Parts: sequence; structure tokens; C-alpha cells
Amino acid sequence: MTSGVYPGPLLLLLSLLPASHQTCPSMCLCVSDIVSCSASGLSKLPKSLPSYSVTLDLSHNHLSWLGPGSFTRIPRLENLRMTHNQLSSLSQGAFNNASGLRYLDLSSNKLHVVEQHYFQGLWRLEELLLYNNKITQIEAGTLIGLSSLKKAYFSLNQITHFPFFSIQDHSHPFLAMLDLSSNRMSRLPWEDVKALPGLVQRGLYLHNNSLICDCSMYSVFWHWDLRGYDSLKDFTDEHTCTVYGNPRASIRFLRHSRLFQNCTVEKAVSLPVTVLLSNVLVSEGERVRLDCQTSLSSTDLSFTWISPSKGYITQATINDTLISLFPNGTLEIQAAKVNDSGLYVCTALDIKQALNATREVNVTVLLPAVEPFNTGYTTLLGCVVTMVCILIYLYMTPCRCSCCKQPKPQAIPISTYDPNTLTSVFSPSVRDQHRIQTNKHVAFMEAMISEEGPEWTPES
Ligand SMILES: *[C@@H]1O[C@H](CO)[C@@H](O)[C@H](O)[C@H]1NC(C)=O
Ligand SMILES: *[C@@H]1O[C@H](CO)[C@@H](O)[C@H](O)[C@H]1NC(C)=O
Ligand SMILES: *[C@@H]1O[C@H](CO)[C@@H](O)[C@H](O)[C@H]1NC(C)=O
Ligand SMILES: *[C@@H]1O[C@H](CO)[C@@H](O)[C@H](O)[C@H]1NC(C)=O
Ligand SMILES: *[C@@H]1O[C@H](CO)[C@@H](O)[C@H](O)[C@H]1NC(C)=O
Ligand SMILES: *[C@@H]1O[C@H](CO)[C@@H](O)[C@H](O)[C@H]1NC(C)=O
Ligand SMILES: *[C@@H]1O[C@H](CO)[C@@H](O)[C@H](O)[C@H]1NC(C)=O
Ligand SMILES: *[C@@H]1O[C@H](CO)[C@@H](O)[C@H](O)[C@H]1NC(C)=O
Repeated sequence: MTSGVYPGPLLLLLSLLPASHQTCPSMCLCVSDIVSCSASGLSKLPKSLPSYSVTLDLSHNHLSWLGPGSFTRIPRLENLRMTHNQLSSLSQGAFNNASGLRYLDLSSNKLHVVEQHYFQGLWRLEELLLYNNKITQIEAGTLIGLSSLKKAYFSLNQITHFPFFSIQDHSHPFLAMLDLSSNRMSRLPWEDVKALPGLVQRGLYLHNNSLICDCSMYSVFWHWDLRGYDSLKDFTDEHTCTVYGNPRASIRFLRHSRLFQNCTVEKAVSLPVTVLLSNVLVSEGERVRLDCQTSLSSTDLSFTWISPSKGYITQATINDTLISLFPNGTLEIQAAKVNDSGLYVCTALDIKQALNATREVNVTVLLPAVEPFNTGYTTLLGCVVTMVCILIYLYMTPCRCSCCKQPKPQAIPISTYDPNTLTSVFSPSVRDQHRIQTNKHVAFMEAMISEEGPEWTPES
């Protein structure tokens, strides 16, 4: 009775087991939370995909369309890979109920226009891969709402315009990679580009576009180059522009800056902001004065410095006697340290006219030069002195030379010619210690005994 198994509980147990929609489609591989249906010849989505999928791989198939709510039944979906399909458009609401998506790879498809509604609601999306499609246009509102976006790749398309204005300081706080390289942008709205958050500018890739050479373009890149952005360093030769829009007159403008010598890069960055870079080289410990002369001529300016080691410096924040900020904007550091090196940026603010201007100074603090009197000389001098001492010691005992007190160990083998010290080195004993201490001749061997102590065990 007590051990009997009733069919009731068993049926209940069976009904709790995963229902049929949880089974893995025959052409897919299901491993815990990963469902891989790549290269399965699919031309449409499998009817039932396991609802527990977190990663779904549909790459290398023939999918050409995504219907509304395609992933509604997969609430935990985070990674969706659909690279190398035939997608040419996505229907309204294709990603409805897929707001958990963090990684979406639609690269190497046939998308033409990225429509405003495509990624609606994907506020958790961190990476969006759309490279190698046929995209000619990205609608203005496409990126709005993608507030977790970190990386977006639009390379290898035919994009001529990009809605830079839709990316602002707080709209995409984590965006650090915006790849628009290898597209067809010839003229960019440089004012919008300059207004992008610093993090986005640092991660903006624009090489291998058919940019038209002009000063407003050059000044932006000049500025990025100055800041050492990787996008420019890694693709120096791919940054080309064309003269008069003639594709055959293509210039590697980061290499041939001479052609832009008549561009007033300082002014072009953002009027009336004037950015002039100067380099200051000082030795550690020296006093440094950094001037903040800008294009603003008003006598009523207030100055702010940003320093690499101390952050914001204004008249009000200085509580350090080693730093002073003069009324004319000059910043003085009493004794520069090596880690005071870096880019100092001064902002002059004319409150009345609501104008500001900045100036950058690249400070390099060098360690003081090494003194020529180095250890080599010291050792040599030590040897000579020791030899002299030994000669005096051998011929003029008792020693009257004060430098005998600290001889160098390397002189010791010579001193072993003295039979007295020889015996005391190789056969000392505790009994002899008192005599050794009082014997001036042996005093200098003690150094060696104590140095080589571990190898040598005294008797008794
Ligand atoms: C999908 O989202 C809509 C609202 O956008 C909601 O009404 C619906 O219940 C969701 N469906 C599922 C299966 O979660
Ligand atoms: C530059 O872009 C073209 C297409 O616009 C592409 O075919 C080529 O591979 C790209 N070159 C590099 C070096 O990225
Ligand atoms: C500042 O100067 C140092 C040494 O001259 C150089 O390595 C560094 O790249 C410079 N930084 C900028 C932003 O120009
Ligand atoms: C820059 O201006 C000077 C004088 O105005 C002119 O001789 C020179 O050709 C110009 N350089 C370029 C690259 O346009
Ligand atoms: C600068 O270097 C000193 C040691 O030389 C160190 O104690 C200090 O923390 C460093 N400051 C910064 C801001 O790195
Ligand atoms: C200077 O002020 C800052 C905050 O304003 C404080 O963190 C720092 O400890 C102060 N330094 C000294 C030396 O008083
Ligand atoms: C600013 O004032 C300081 C101290 O009065 C002076 O040493 C410095 O030369 C001045 N700088 C300029 C650019 O006039
Ligand atoms: C400088 O001026 C620009 C507009 O010209 C403004 O956006 C910026 O906030 C100003 N910066 C400061 C520090 O006032």
C-alpha cells in the first residue's frame, strides 16, 4: 500500500515535462540554451523553436523575410545571429516581444533601407551588426531608443547619409563604436559630427568613403589625429579624399597634410573655439607656466583648466600651493612631476558674450638627466683605493689609513697572502672569536666571513 505507485501522480509528472513546442526542430542542434539552425537550408523560420533559447543561430540560410512577432515565443532570446541570409526587409514589429535582445547580427544580407521601425523596443540591444548589406539609407529615427547600444557596424554598404544628429550626449551613453567605413559618404554634416559625444567620436570609423577634400573635413580629422584615436592610427592609409570629386584624384590625407596647409584648422573646429596645440617640454622639478591665450580678446574672461593628473582646475578649486592660476589664465605648476605629463586643456569663457574658446597644451615632463658619475666609476675608484690600502697594510702595519675600515670584498684574495689571515679564515672557532676581534689584521676578513656565512659552518 505505502510503496504502491499510482498512475495519477505519474500522469501529473508527465504533464509537467516540457510540452511538445519545446522539442528541438530536426534540422537544428539544441544545447542547453543554445539553438543552432545554421546552414540548414531554411527558407523560413522553423514553426516551433524551443522557448528556452537564449542564443539562436540562423546564419547561412535562405531566409528572406521576418514577419511580425517572429520571436514572440522565445522570451529569453538575447543573441540572434542571422548573418548570410537573403533578408531584404523586416516587417513592422518583427522584433516584438524580443526586447531582451542584446546582440543582433544581420550582417551579409540584402537589406536596402534601414527603416525607423526595425529595431523599435530593443532598448537592451548592445551590438548591432549590419555590415555587408545593400543599405543605401538609414532612416532618421532608427537608432532612437537603442539606449544600451555599445557597438554598431554599418560598414560595406552604400550609405550616403547617416543621422548623426540622432546621437546625443544622453541618448546613447555607452556607444563607443560606430563603424561607417567603406560606404559612399562624400560630404558629412561636419557640425553634427563635431557635436557627437566624445566617446562616439573616438570610436567613429569613416575610412574608405569617397569623402571630398575640404578644410572642414580636414580639420575634424586633424583634431582626431591629434588625440591619437585608434580609428585613424589603424587605418591611416585608408583615409582618402578626392579632389573636386574626381575619384582618380584620391589623396591619403593623413599622410599628405601639406595639401591642407592653407586650412585654418584652429578656427574650423568650432567657431569661435580656437584650439591651438603647443608642446611644452620640461624636466622634473622645474616650474612650468602654461598660457591660455585664445582668440577671445575680452578682458573679462574666466578660465578653467583640465589637467591629466588633477582634473578640473579653476580659481575656486585650487587648494594646493604648488599650483596657481593667474587672472590672465596662465597656469603655473611649481615643480612638475613626470605624471603631470599629458594634455592640458584651457577653456576661456566670456560670459557676457556667451563665447568660449579652448587651448590645448601638450606637456611632457622628463626625468632629470642621469649624472655621468655612475657606478662603474665608483667601483673602479673603490678598487684603486682598496689596493692602496692593502699596500699600506702590508708594508706599514699597524694600519694608519682610515680607509682600511671598509675594504671591498674583491680585494680579499690578495690579502690571503698573509698567512695569519689565511688561517683565521679557514679555521676560526668560537674560542678564537675574542682574539679575532682584537686582532686588527683579521678585522677585515670578518666582512667576508659574515657575507659568506651560509656556506661556511664554524666548528664547535
Ligand atoms: C507581446 O507584447 C505585447 C505588447 O507589446 C503584449 O500585449 C503581448 O502579450 C506580448 N506577447 C507575449 C507572448 O508575451
Ligand atoms: C573600400 O570599400 C569598397 C566598397 O565601397 C570595398 O570593396 C573595399 O574592399 C574597401 N576597401 C577596404 C580597404 O576596406
Ligand atoms: C604629447 O607629446 C608627447 C611627446 O612629445 C607625444 O608622445 C604625445 O603623442 C603628444 N600628445 C598629443 C595629444 O599630441
Ligand atoms: C596656400 O596659399 C598660398 C598663398 O596664398 C599659395 O601660394 C599656395 O599654393 C596655397 N597652397 C595650397 C595647397 O593651396
Ligand atoms: C604620481 O607619481 C607619484 C609617485 O611618483 C605617485 O605617488 C602618485 O600617486 C602619482 N599620481 C598620479 C595621479 O598618478
Ligand atoms: C583639495 O580639495 C579636494 C576637493 O575639492 C579634496 O578632495 C582634496 O583633499 C583637497 N586637497 C588638499 C590638499 O586639501
Ligand atoms: C600672466 O600673468 C603671469 C603672472 O602675472 C605672467 O607671468 C604671465 O607672463 C602672464 N601671461 C601672459 C600670457 O600674459
Ligand atoms: C562653449 O560654447 C558651446 C557653444 O558655443 C557650448 O555648447 C559649450 O557648453 C560651451 N562650453 C562651456 C564650458 O561653457
